[in-house]
Amino acid sequence: MMSRNELDGGNIMNTINLSQVEKRGFPFRYHILTYGCQMNEHDSEVIAGLLENMGYTPSNQLEDADLIIVNTCCVRESAEEKIYGKIGSLKALKMVNPDLVVGVSGCMAQKPDESKIIRKRAPFVDFIIGTDTMQELRGVLTKVYQDRLPTVCISTDEYRRIADRLPRARSERHKAWVTIMHGCNNFCSYCIVPFVRGRERSRTPESIIAEVIDLVGDGVKEITLLGQNVNSYGQGLSEENDFSDLLRKIDRIDGIERIRFMTSHPKDLSAKLMNVMGSGKHICHHIHLPVQAGSNQVLKFMNRGYTREDYLELVKSIRETLPGCSITTDIIVGFPGESDDNFEDTLDLVRQIRWNAAYTFLYSNRSGTKAAQMSQQIADQTKKVRLQKLMALQNVISLQYHQEQVGRTVEVMIDGESRTNPDVWSSRTATNELVLFPKIRALSSQGPGDRVQVRIVEGKTWTLHGQAEI
Ligand code: 5AD
Ligand code: SF4
Repeated sequence: MMSRNELDGGNIMNTINLSQVEKRGFPFRYHILTYGCQMNEHDSEVIAGLLENMGYTPSNQLEDADLIIVNTCCVRESAEEKIYGKIGSLKALKMVNPDLVVGVSGCMAQKPDESKIIRKRAPFVDFIIGTDTMQELRGVLTKVYQDRLPTVCISTDEYRRIADRLPRARSERHKAWVTIMHGCNNFCSYCIVPFVRGRERSRTPESIIAEVIDLVGDGVKEITLLGQNVNSYGQGLSEENDFSDLLRKIDRIDGIERIRFMTSHPKDLSAKLMNVMGSGKHICHHIHLPVQAGSNQVLKFMNRGYTREDYLELVKSIRETLPGCSITTDIIVGFPGESDDNFEDTLDLVRQIRWNAAYTFLYSNRSGTKAAQMSQQIADQTKKVRLQKLMALQNVISLQYHQEQVGRTVEVMIDGESRTNPDVWSSRTATNELVLFPKIRALSSQGPGDRVQVRIVEGKTWTLHGQAEI
């Protein structure tokens, strides 16, 4: 372990070989490739913050970078293979520029024994850094520059220390992520996350609130609280503090405009939370509530801790307490042993619940998990056919939802220009619907973070289209 002083500040230049600086010039440039969930995007901002504190500057082009970090995800095999392909392609850049440093971070780096596989499949990788050792980045880079030897820095302790308040380079000014807890204790039988991110650890409310106050002071209007299972926040903290208490406190912070959170586990979502959401002033009415499957038998084998009936009951009370609250979900198809009937149960639940949106996944076998040892793994072709059916059904529902919005006026917050058309703003409602609307020339000062009333004129499967009301 390194001492605190070695980690803080200090230009990395002192440790870099002078001939490299002569060749490339200083400051050195970094590029981060990010895969996976919001947690990873947030981690990339932390890595960027640490690098910028050392004197690095960002590079938009991979080819111009002196340091490339691939921040990885390992939830599904397909993502892993794509990432290995990307890492492999960096070898060509290293041939052109032998001084280029390549690092791998994130969940693949942290997965048991994967660092050995990365070293074997991509021996040119200079360093591997885990999800809970990012604060050691300076020391790792120093080693890489000084010794020119591959370096692995991973913590495998189940209860890893939380490195609080690391610097970060945020990609957006008006919104930010705030991690409230790390790890997961649920051990859903298909999921690798608990093996990778370790046991659940909550940050203290004081530290979270101080961070949110700083962010708001820095112009942030919307924050998203992140955790694998935010509803079990607070366990293990010395004082009684649950997620609802935390939300209530954050809602009172001056200047905050929108509070989001994810992910909620259905087994832990309390009536108290719904009430706090109902009475809160800034808490967005959107709950991402992964169901994973609609069959009780599959849910049991998944170790989810609730039944289909429990989930239906929960959705009923959310809709009673918070009318108009949007509910989205994750669904896995092709879990081991999932019969045609079990899959029909999932389709039936989709019809009954009518989620605002569902993120659908092919079951992916993750070695080390309980489900990987289950017999009756489902054939790829069957999984794909089921996924198509499920997506087609959900698309019809999402389209209907969006068409029902036509004619309504909704409040949105502008995120930025649409990726495909610079004359159009991309924005979100409090319920997290994506709304696109043409910029108004007369309002040239309008921009990200502004709230606008928009009349919806068209609803498509994934987006709403509108006109700003002046
Ligand atoms: N296979 C497919 N999907 C998975 N997820 C997690 N593990 C797996 C797996 N092994 C999905 C779940 C989770 C989302 C983030 O990823 O639906 O909610
Ligand atoms: Fe994985 Fe389940 Fe934990 Fe979510 S709650 S991270 S699906 S083990």
